[in-house]
Amino acid sequence: MDTDNPVAPILQVEHLDIKFSLRGKVLHAIRDVSLELYEGETLAIVGESGSGKSVLTKAFMGLNDKNGWVDHGRILYSGKDLAQFKTEKEWLTIRGREIAMVLQDPMTSLNPLKTVGAQIEEALRLHQGLRGAQARQRTVELLTDVGIAEPERRRRQYPHEFSGGMRQRVIIAIALACRPRILICDEPTTALDVTIQAQIIRLIYDLVHKYHLTAIYITHDLGVVANVADRVAVMYAGDIVEIGTCREVFYEPAHPYTWALLSSLPQLGVKGEQLYTIRGTPPNLYHPIVGDAFAPRNPNALKADYIERPPFFDISPTHKARTWLLDPRAPKADPPQVLKRIREI
Ligand SMILES: Nc1ncnc2c1ncn2[C@@H]1O[C@H](COP(=O)(O)OP(=O)(O)OP(=O)(O)O)[C@@H](O)[C@H]1O
Ligand SMILES: [Mg+2]
Repeated sequence: MDTDNPVAPILQVEHLDIKFSLRGKVLHAIRDVSLELYEGETLAIVGESGSGKSVLTKAFMGLNDKNGWVDHGRILYSGKDLAQFKTEKEWLTIRGREIAMVLQDPMTSLNPLKTVGAQIEEALRLHQGLRGAQARQRTVELLTDVGIAEPERRRRQYPHEFSGGMRQRVIIAIALACRPRILICDEPTTALDVTIQAQIIRLIYDLVHKYHLTAIYITHDLGVVANVADRVAVMYAGDIVEIGTCREVFYEPAHPYTWALLSSLPQLGVKGEQLYTIRGTPPNLYHPIVGDAFAPRNPNALKADYIERPPFFDISPTHKARTWLLDPRAPKADPPQVLKRIREI
């Protein structure tokens, strides 16, 4: 993506709040998130477990659990506000055909009783009206596109005859069969070993370009993001606390939570020394959050952090962060020394 000249957003989230009701209590999972997704870009969303990465993106497809709801805000896509969708019928116009999702566990997403070819053909019939020889031919093409050798033979096999990495490729082929405009990959590789992860990430990267997709790539592993993403959004406690181009977030991180996340990258570890870990735990989202949610874990926290939620401060036209440290009145605080080494890895 040309970040100097951004095109119109393909998807626009405005002041989104999502809540869940559980045993009489309300959990505020997404807290006033705004986000623009630009056509053709790959946006990575990173953040600790429970920060809201999945809930946010599932909201784009109406896939959150039934005890959750959009409490406030808009999700604008193609002239519609998805946050207003109520029925499955409405969601079926979007799900799969406009926005598709590749999930973490390929075994649960595939039907063990049907051949992989039948499952891809089903998607082709449903979304593109392809049948018979045409559908079979397209299935073979898709299997080839996702890097499966001998597609003619493999399409007749069942999911259990595929390895984890190969099953993930099949899932991606099914997602592509629907010709979506946006592909969301939610930790597509955590269940796989490192070399296979690298191959899948590479594959998604290639397909995004081949099929002119817009992609959201969700991961814990900041290390993989640098290779695939144009921009990175950092989530903490249901909020986006920093967003910028990959270079900006890696080389000039501004939020103390981003500093902490980057400092704990295994690649920065020195042999014999303990790897940095973020102290404390994320806040309980059942309680209202006052000020900066990260303050109790932030060694550089200011008084203001405990009182008022910081606004976004612009660092560049493409880079902004929600931290009082960027307020002109704040004392100067430098990122941890260890982050200087990021340019070397
Ligand atoms: N159905 C639900 N009922 C109650 N709380 C929920 C429900 N679904 C999600 N949550 C809560 O919403 C918050 C955000 O969850 P989410 O799954 O989006 O986190 P995540 O960033 O994707 O984490 P991970 O990296 O572990 O996948 C968490 O506190 C989670 O417990
Ligand atoms: Mg998740």
